[in-house]
Amino acid sequence: MFIEKFRVESPNVRYGEEEIEAVYYYETTELVHEARDGAYQWIVRPKSVRYDFKTQTRVPKLGVMLVGWGGNNGSTLTAGVIANREGISWVTKDKVQQANYFGSLTQASTIRVGSYNGEEIYAPFKNLLPMVNPDDIVFGGWDISNMNLADAMARAKVLDIDLQKQLRPYMESMVPLPGIFDPDFVAANQGARANHVLKGTKVEQVQQIVKDIREFKEKTQVDKVVVLWTANTERYSNVIVGLNDTTENLMASLDKNEAEISPSTLYGIACVLENVPYINGSPQNTFVPGLIDMAIQRNSLIGGDDFKSGQTKMKSVLVDFLVGAGIKPTSIVSYNHLGNNDGMNLSAPQTFRSKEISKSNVVDDMVSSNGILYEPGEHPDHVIVIKYVPYVGDSKRAMDEYTSEIFMGGRSTIVLHNTCEDSLLAAPIILDLVLLAELSSRIQLKAEGEGKFSSFHPVSAILSYLTKAPLVPPGTPVVNALAKQRAMLENILRACVGLSPENNINLEYK
Ligand SMILES: NC(=O)c1ccc[n+]([C@@H]2O[C@H](COP(=O)([O-])OP(=O)(O)OC[C@H]3O[C@@H](n4cnc5c(N)ncnc54)[C@H](O)[C@@H]3O)[C@@H](O)[C@H]2O)c1
Repeated sequence: MFIEKFRVESPNVRYGEEEIEAVYYYETTELVHEARDGAYQWIVRPKSVRYDFKTQTRVPKLGVMLVGWGGNNGSTLTAGVIANREGISWVTKDKVQQANYFGSLTQASTIRVGSYNGEEIYAPFKNLLPMVNPDDIVFGGWDISNMNLADAMARAKVLDIDLQKQLRPYMESMVPLPGIFDPDFVAANQGARANHVLKGTKVEQVQQIVKDIREFKEKTQVDKVVVLWTANTERYSNVIVGLNDTTENLMASLDKNEAEISPSTLYGIACVLENVPYINGSPQNTFVPGLIDMAIQRNSLIGGDDFKSGQTKMKSVLVDFLVGAGIKPTSIVSYNHLGNNDGMNLSAPQTFRSKEISKSNVVDDMVSSNGILYEPGEHPDHVIVIKYVPYVGDSKRAMDEYTSEIFMGGRSTIVLHNTCEDSLLAAPIILDLVLLAELSSRIQLKAEGEGKFSSFHPVSAILSYLTKAPLVPPGTPVVNALAKQRAMLENILRACVGLSPENNINLEYK
């Protein structure tokens, strides 16, 4: 059964005027490796740690500035939100289609709240805590192409034509601000699009981005801004001691106009200086150590990398299932072909390499979790191929072959073929990233024994579900398995209203 809303009543929760306060007991374990009776043994001690959570309930007016606003993702997301806000429907060859937010974890998925008369009760994920309604987001941003958003939507060739016609009047006046462009970081084929670029030194470009954020805030009267990179995939930046390894070195390199600071890092510097959350939806290493360091020092939220939209999402489910079932994946081969501008940019070896790296590590945690199947250091063969095929446009094809070893040396091969508009997968993920980044900035927590409340670590691991190569605080394990990532996110939000984690034990029925 489905319910819209609920309220938690518990001595551990207080709904105040401004805040929800919750006491939460974190049940975890502590491991020690000790000599006992002359031999080393692993000792596991369950422990319970009290946490106090405080969540501000006033939902701000949110502004989202997209880097690459006029791209397929940027224009599709903007169009989708306007269509939802205006309640637009359109005629397809099959039916009259209503705007919706399918594919968004926060807007279109549910959580289990309990059972009632023997029935499972579910409620919308978005009603766990007060969240910004995506219909109310004000969009803005930058692009190196000066096309307005209506024309950009037409260029993207993603949405049905009847819908585009209805959206055009809302989007014609939306024109991106000029962006920071450096042809050295993207494929040469992107040069033709770059007619709207910032001039000046790198310091001046960063100053301009800071100014743009301030003016956007002023003009739209939003309370908060989140910036998200959905521009072209860049090549990796070289991480060099003395250049970008610390905040001081990065800022000194900026002053010297060093060539190796990428545009995506420059936007990042501007955001951290402005204390505006910055999320990277592409695979490159925007967050060089110096920028991570600076975000931590200034407690400014950063998140990334690379939207986890299709093939990788499947991989982080399927390999988790196989390894969790005691089956040994030995070869994973993933082909893609796509014909949009992203595909054209990825046809250059250096930008493809960024994508290859971000797609490669996704099974590592699952493989290393099972020492029965894998020897230390052993990995399945894992190959990734991406080809540019203009005819298929945004409708990406993903073909995957998983070969595994099963009982008694047997082989099992699973083959998947997915055809899907890439931007229709990515747009709701962008929405979730900005909504959750905003929400997490309203949550404060305090562990037992800590004197005062603090916000989550600025390197935002709770966004991991939405990214292929999750950026996590230094020294923290990376979790790629999708179900674990979702459970982590849901359980943290449940803790904020004093609900225990979903444990699926269902003891009441046993
Ligand atoms: N669609 C998906 O499912 C998906 C999944 C994961 C990651 N991504 C990544 O998202 C990014 C965007 O994808 P897309 O399909 O929208 O691509 P796109 O090429 O259609 O859009 C990118 C836009 O960024 C602009 N741009 C390039 N460099 C810029 C800069 N320095 N400053 C400002 N604007 C700049 C381009 O003009 C273009 O309009 C790509 O890097 C892609 O790899 C997409």
